[in-house]
Formats: sequence, structure tokens, C-alpha cells
Amino acid sequence: MSLDQRAQILEAVASTTCGVRDLVQVLEWKTLKVISLLREMNKEPICEEAVKNLLSSATWAPSAHNAQPWRFVVMQDQDSRYELLTKMGERWKQDLKADGMQQELIDSLTNSSMSRFLGCPLIVVVAMTMEDMDKYPDNRRNSAERIMAIESVSAAIQNMLLMAHALGIGASWSCAPLFAPEAVKQVLRLRDNWQPIAMIALGFPRRTPDAPPRKAINEVAIWI
Ligand SMILES: Cc1cc2nc3c(=O)[nH]c(=O)nc-3n(C[C@H](O)[C@H](O)[C@H](O)COP(=O)(O)O)c2cc1C
Repeated sequence: MSLDQRAQILEAVASTTCGVRDLVQVLEWKTLKVISLLREMNKEPICEEAVKNLLSSATWAPSAHNAQPWRFVVMQDQDSRYELLTKMGERWKQDLKADGMQQELIDSLTNSSMSRFLGCPLIVVVAMTMEDMDKYPDNRRNSAERIMAIESVSAAIQNMLLMAHALGIGASWSCAPLFAPEAVKQVLRLRDNWQPIAMIALGFPRRTPDAPPRKAINEVAIWI
């Protein structure tokens, strides 16, 4: 990003009523260390300008063939969220019951997840579409295309998280929609070719938890 572009974003962000926390710093690697999973958020709303910034940063992610396979559903309305989480929770409860988990534990797990996603001012459900990805006559290449689309949408989500951090907004990434796709599609009336793959809870954090530890570089990288 050029200095000009940085200045433009800062200006756009500064003109909003949101709290702004050193946007430029986000471009420096050391800041990445403190982008932690924020489970405790207060209900202070996130203004529209900031939501647009979050979505815009997501859409500037790189994508395979520039197919931009990401799709978003912005959920502020509490009733719709309640409906979504209840339907997803039903599916989850069935799965946990089939796994043999005790009912008390099932209820505590599903209730705490539900309150996390109802206790924040905004959820963004992220879906993926294969509509502009290449199509092949064989599974090997179609499967590679699918992974390329997943990589692209993941890059968009990470961009959103970086922008959220720059704006002082906490974000919590969940893959729950992958396990209850029918419930998500039904409640959000998604098109058939939108596959829900993630759900991001966003809000101003009540506290910043310590980041969980990471494997050492020499455990995850080889040098040749
Ligand atoms: C693809 C993906 C799916 C995730 N799904 C969940 C989830 O369902 N529930 C959850 O609590 N955290 C989820 N997370 C967050 C991770 O648990 C978290 O990033 C990791 O523990 C490292 O913590 P940190 O991001 O706070 O450093 C997910 C993260 C990613 C990238």
C-alpha cells in the first residue's frame, strides 16, 4: 500500500465517529502478535463507516484468478441473529449428543457460544462461491480450485481482522457455519451457490487477552 493510500484510509476512518487506534501500525508485523481472539465485547455499536471499511479491506484481498469468491452477510439485527444461532445450536446439540456428550456439558457449551455471538454488536457471516472459479472435467483440478477459493476467502477474512484491529475493534473468528450449513442457508436465505464457511463476531473489546503461544519458527519452517 502506498503512503497516499494509507493517508486516504486514515482520513476516511478519522472522519467517522469510531475510536481509531493507530491504523498505520497494523502494517507492521509486530502488531500481528496482538491480534487476539476477543471473546468479551461490549455492545457499543460499530458505525456504518467502520463496517464499510471492514468489508472494503476484505475485498482488497488477493484471490485466485481475481475471482473474489467471498460473500458477506452483515448481521446487526438481534432477532435474526437469535434465530440463526438457535438453528445452528440445534444442529450442534444433535452432533454433540451423537458423540455421547453429557447434556449438561452440551447446554453449557452451546449457551456460552450463543452468548458470545449475541453479546457483540455485529456478526459477519462469510460465504464462498465457486461461480467465477475455473471448472475442470476431473476431480483433481476441481479440488485444487476449491482450495484456491478457500485460500482466497481466508485472505479476505484476515484482511478484515487486520482492519478491525486497526480500528480498535475486536474480532472472533468461528468456523461453526461449516458444521451447520443448512441452518445458515435457510435462515439467511442464501443462494444455493453461497457456501457459508465462517462467522466473525465483532465489537469493542472489554479486555485484551494474552495471545495463545505459537510454535517456534524452526518447528514450522524448513530452510533449504
Ligand atoms: C479457520 C479458523 C476457524 C476458527 N474457528 C474457531 C471457532 O470455531 N471457535 C473459536 O473459539 N475460535 C476459532 N478460531 C480462532 C482460533 O482458535 C484462534 O485464532 C487461535 O486459537 C489462536 O488464537 P489468537 O487468534 O487469539 O492468537 C478459528 C480460527 C480460524 C483461523
